[in-house]
Amino acid sequence: MDNNDRNMVPDNAMIERLCSLAADMRARSYVPYSKFHVGAALLTKDGRIFTGCNVENASFPMGTCAERTAFVKAVSEGAREFTAIAICGGPENGELQYCPPCGMCRQIMAEFCTGDFLIYLAKSPADYEVYTLDELLPNRFTGSNLRA
Ligand code: THU
Repeated sequence: MDNNDRNMVPDNAMIERLCSLAADMRARSYVPYSKFHVGAALLTKDGRIFTGCNVENASFPMGTCAERTAFVKAVSEGAREFTAIAICGGPENGELQYCPPCGMCRQIMAEFCTGDFLIYLAKSPADYEVYTLDELLPNRFTGSNLRA
């Protein structure tokens, strides 16, 4: 791997922007069942940002997480290379958490992102934890397994 292959680290202003957008997106969550609001903001390598929120359904397994909403929006608009995502989640009338992405969302990250993809779990633009995809989903199953 050379330098060009390494993921870019967003500067502080961009991290704040992603965390703030993720928090704003919680207002759009459609969560009549769980009342757990999650927002996400996904940064592409060419600097675009795609947002998402969770969208539930009376048929519970149909519900979609905020992160997957953001990825599907981005990919459907032609984006396929990503640097970072900010996630902001918590119950409707409770405190925000360092809300970790679920397993299914980690797997969609595995489809489109390298191991150094950055995942910000934000309580606020100034209060977050950051992990890489390698940390949150080691030894992941990818398309390369199908070809081996
Ligand atoms: N949820 C997300 O949107 N992202 C996650 O990574 C964790 C869970 C949503 C799914 C469901 O609408 C609600 O939070 C409670 O599980």
